[in-house]
Formats: sequence, C-alpha cells, structure tokens
Amino acid sequence: MQYTNLYNGDLMPSIGLGTWKSSQQTVTDAVNHALQTGYQHIDCAPIYMNEKNVGHALEASLQKKVIRRDALWVTSKLWNSFHAPENVAKALKETLHYLRLDYLDAYLIHWPVATKFSCHYRHAQSSSDYIPLADLPLEDTWQAMIECQKAGLTRHIGVSNFSINKITQLINNTGISPSINQVECHPYLNQNPLRQFCQQQQIALTAYAPLGSADRPQIFKAADEPSLLEHPKILEIATQHQATAAQVLIQWSLAKGNVVIPKSTHPERIEQNLAAAAMTLSSDTILQIDQLNIDYRFIKGDFFTINGSPYTVESLWC
Ligand code: A2P
Repeated sequence: MQYTNLYNGDLMPSIGLGTWKSSQQTVTDAVNHALQTGYQHIDCAPIYMNEKNVGHALEASLQKKVIRRDALWVTSKLWNSFHAPENVAKALKETLHYLRLDYLDAYLIHWPVATKFSCHYRHAQSSSDYIPLADLPLEDTWQAMIECQKAGLTRHIGVSNFSINKITQLINNTGISPSINQVECHPYLNQNPLRQFCQQQQIALTAYAPLGSADRPQIFKAADEPSLLEHPKILEIATQHQATAAQVLIQWSLAKGNVVIPKSTHPERIEQNLAAAAMTLSSDTILQIDQLNIDYRFIKGDFFTINGSPYTVESLWC
C-alpha cells in the first residue's frame, strides 16, 4: 500500500474504495471484498444513502480481524443541511452510529453549500431550502468541525469541492487548515493550480471521479460527455503497459501526488484498481496524459443552482 503524508506525519492510504453510487444491496460485499483484498481506506458520505450498509462490512471486518482499526482509514462528510454549528457534531455522531465506529479518520465539509436542517439527507427542492453563505459562513461550520476534532470524534478534518479562495477564507478566519481537500480530478480536469496550492499548504488532494464516474444518473450527464475509460490515448497506454484503462487513470492520479478513490462494486475491478499502485508510468507518459486536460467537470454542481438558488455555478467554484 502506498501512503500520503499528511501535515502532521499521519499516513493516509493513497488508494481508497469510493462508495458514491454503490447501492445498499451491493456496497456491503464491495467493502468486505476491498478490505480482504488489502484496501485500508473507505470513502463514505451520508448522502450516498448507504453508510449503514458500509457499517455492516466495517463491523464484520474489524470483528473478524481482517483489518485492525488503526490500519483502517474511513472518511465521511458533513451534508449541506447540517452546516449550522449546533448540528455538526450531531451529524458526525449519526454517521459514526451508521458506520459502527467510535471515531472517523477524516470528516469533510461535503460542499460549500448550506441548506436548511429540514432538508435532512436530501437535496434542496426550492430556493427557500437554501441558506446563502453570507448568512451561514463556511468558517462558522469549520469552527464546529475543529471542535469535533478536539473532542476526538475524528482524527482529521477537511473539505470537499473547495476552491483556493474558500480554503484561504477558512485559514484566515480560524488559523486552522484542512488536512484534505477532496475534489473531482482526472486527466480532463487535472487540477494543477489547486494541487500546487494544496501542496504548499500541506493539504492532501483526494481525487474523486477518477474514472469519469460514468455510472451517474443519466439526468446529471451532459449529452456530449466525453469518456475517459475509452479515450484512445488512455487505451493505447494501457495496451503498452499490459494494464487496463482504469489502472492507467489510477496510476496517473497517484503519480500526480493525489489520494484516489475509484468506486467499484465488482470484485475483479476492486482488485484491479488496487493493483494499479504496482504499475509505473514514465514521466513522458504522464506528460502525454496531462495534455488531455480540458478543464472538464463531470460533476458541474449545477444541481445546486436551480429554482432561484442563491448559489451559481460561478460562485460554487470560485
Ligand atoms: P462498477 O462499480 O460497476 O465496477 P468513478 O470512480 O470515477 O466514480 O467511476 C466509477 C465507475 O467506473 C463505475 O461505473 C464503475 O463500475 C466503473 N469502474 C470501476 N472500476 C473499473 C475498472 N477497473 N474498469 C472499468 N470500469 C470500472
């Protein structure tokens, strides 16, 4: 297993199993299989609606000593409806209950978007469900995250889908930097400027949707969405290395210095994705893949901007 050094010397396993889009019916077996295969890192969130099922696998694997708790890394995320400071620890404790854990390794603010508590674990339905960040600033939520870390509920705190500006705002207002920023990252969106900033600040960058997340619901997909797993360059490099396209994408991400969380519910792919750590790509090959960058987001965040929402795509990413 390859590890990423966090700011305090803690080691985060560089490949984790993604669980976004994994069904309640399949995710328990997927997590069990991943842990048996040698994964030490599972990425979760309550909005994935499967934390209870992930928890069954974590509990069983820990009980059967497939893995020790101190060798396991579990990340979860604070959903948008729980940004009010008084709700942050409550949400974290609920996640711990579902995951059947005493503490998390990392807890991230899932999106820089706040909605009313009444939305609970669902997306906003109308503009009145949203809370503008001016009324519930991210630094207030972040301060509550800091308290959760102090209380021992999570070893690390971090953010997801945060820009350089928004991270800087957190640091300037609280003096505490996130350990991790989890963002979409793959060869079409290589995140070089954000990664450079994160490296300077000793913030680990976790790459979500590293394979292009083609299993997203059709309604969230653009009609002309480009395929990553079928890109001729990626396929050519895969053939040259007797590897799969997925392995090339995962190794490229590792080589860039990312933590990477490919999602799969198929045993052979779960194994294949972890084995990507063993392959090497030359610096020239990495450069060729870098050239595929088109700053293309599969997850545009436009689902937060409908129905007169105070959020715009521009304000979300800036
Ligand atoms: P499945 O879960 O059926 O294996 P991302 O991690 O970017 O969100 O992408 C997840 C998608 O990629 C899912 O559709 C998943 O399918 C698929 N996938 C995961 N691993 C592989 C692999 N090794 N080869 C091909 N497709 C894969």
